[in-house]
Amino acid sequence: MKGVILAGGRGTRLYPLTKVTNKHLLPVGKEPMIFNPVKQLIFAGITDIMVVTGKEHMGEIVRLLGSGRDFGCDFTFKVQEEPLGIANALLLAENFARGEKIVVILGDNIATHSIKKYVDRFRQQKEGARVLLRKVEDPERFGIAALDELKIVEIEEKPLYPKSQYAVIGIYMYDEKVFDIIRQIRPNAHGEYEITPVNNFYISLNQLYYDLLEGEWTDAGTFESLAYANRIMLEIDNKIIVSED
Ligand code: TTP
Repeated sequence: MKGVILAGGRGTRLYPLTKVTNKHLLPVGKEPMIFNPVKQLIFAGITDIMVVTGKEHMGEIVRLLGSGRDFGCDFTFKVQEEPLGIANALLLAENFARGEKIVVILGDNIATHSIKKYVDRFRQQKEGARVLLRKVEDPERFGIAALDELKIVEIEEKPLYPKSQYAVIGIYMYDEKVFDIIRQIRPNAHGEYEITPVNNFYISLNQLYYDLLEGEWTDAGTFESLAYANRIMLEIDNKIIVSED
């Protein structure tokens, strides 16, 4: 299994913090934001990791992360020419994945507890995809999952009238089909290739599984959520918590 961290995008909601630097280099607690997804993958036993970012800040990202030696992993870097969306960025990992399953983390997702147990369940999963959900207070900001008892029935992107409070967060696990699926989806009105249609495609195949993520989690893409991310990381000294069960 391989790991992919998506660290491109514009970061406009954090402007001017992101005027001269990449969002994922901003401090969260005592470390740059991108360290959390890197450590999440390593804690889950994934050490072959591709980092995708735009050309403006690739140099700084490489300078920060290096080869991976200091982390005990191997980094591969890939440039996304234009910020055309999460699915567009993920497509760049096709050759890297070489037919293996992948765990994808958006570089601005910050979690206090290890995702290893969910990744292990995905390792056991024969095929399909697996997403992580969280109950959120502001469902209009996320892809929201309509659930029956066991399965996700549908995911709606930034719904006006959310069918639940369960958001699909930026940690996704896919089998090798994901790249063919991405090629089939259409861009949204802003020309961006979103990930929600990809996940909905897996629902149509009856192959989208989910877990509820434990511990504290936030994206760090707005001033409020960045401040919250700082608080939760400072509280645990940026050390990811591993709970056995
Ligand atoms: P977003 O927060 O949706 O977009 P953004 O980072 O460009 O920020 P803003 O909306 O404030 O302009 O992206 C979520 C994550 O996805 C982000 O951490 C980086 C990644 N991403 C890419 O790698 N490539 C892309 O083209 C986009 C849009 C996002």
